[in-house]
Amino acid sequence: QAALPEGYKLRALRRSDYDAGFLDCLRVLTTVGDIAKEAWEERYDWISRQDGTYFIIVIEDTNASPPRIVGTGALLAERKFIHNLGSIGHIEDIAVAKDQQGKKLGLRLIEALDYIAKQTGCYKTILDCSEHNEGFYVKCGFRRAGLQMAHYH
Ligand code: ACO
Repeated sequence: QAALPEGYKLRALRRSDYDAGFLDCLRVLTTVGDIAKEAWEERYDWISRQDGTYFIIVIEDTNASPPRIVGTGALLAERKFIHNLGSIGHIEDIAVAKDQQGKKLGLRLIEALDYIAKQTGCYKTILDCSEHNEGFYVKCGFRRAGLQMAHYH
């Protein structure tokens, strides 16, 4: 397992992370929008109520003052009927702040999420990514499987 740099901490997302740059961290991934604190709290609380289904983790740089979120990722444990009521882990929304990339933070996030998936009883962990990121996920132990299709609304 890769070690985190000194002063970096991997932990679960907190309600107070709105003020620690969580949404800015996600902006390296895609459009986030202008989310007011009240709307953030409502969504955070909804996610928190889905006990054992959503796991959102962050890496916090405590050397910064105030401490800043520099990486994040999510795991969704999907309960199924097939495979004897099996579960599948879906890795979603992996983002490492631009100035923090290349320090193995992404790798640590994937290792942690894959570990949570295993602990939650998921028989596999899957994710969708662009061709550009394939090399990163291969280094994390994943391999190409299947084909993604989408219907945007
Ligand atoms: N292609 C090939 N190899 C890569 C890539 C890439 N795009 N990115 C990193 N690697 C390699 C690194 O060189 C390193 O290799 P090494 O062990 O030989 O040194 C290894 O993968 C681990 O890299 P990390 O340092 O852990 O990667 P980083 O912390 O920079 O995070 C990430 C990678 C998450 C892709 C980051 O660049 C990022 O946030 N990008 C923008 C957002 C994004 O594209 N997120 C993924 C979307 S897919 C999804 O969310 C399911």
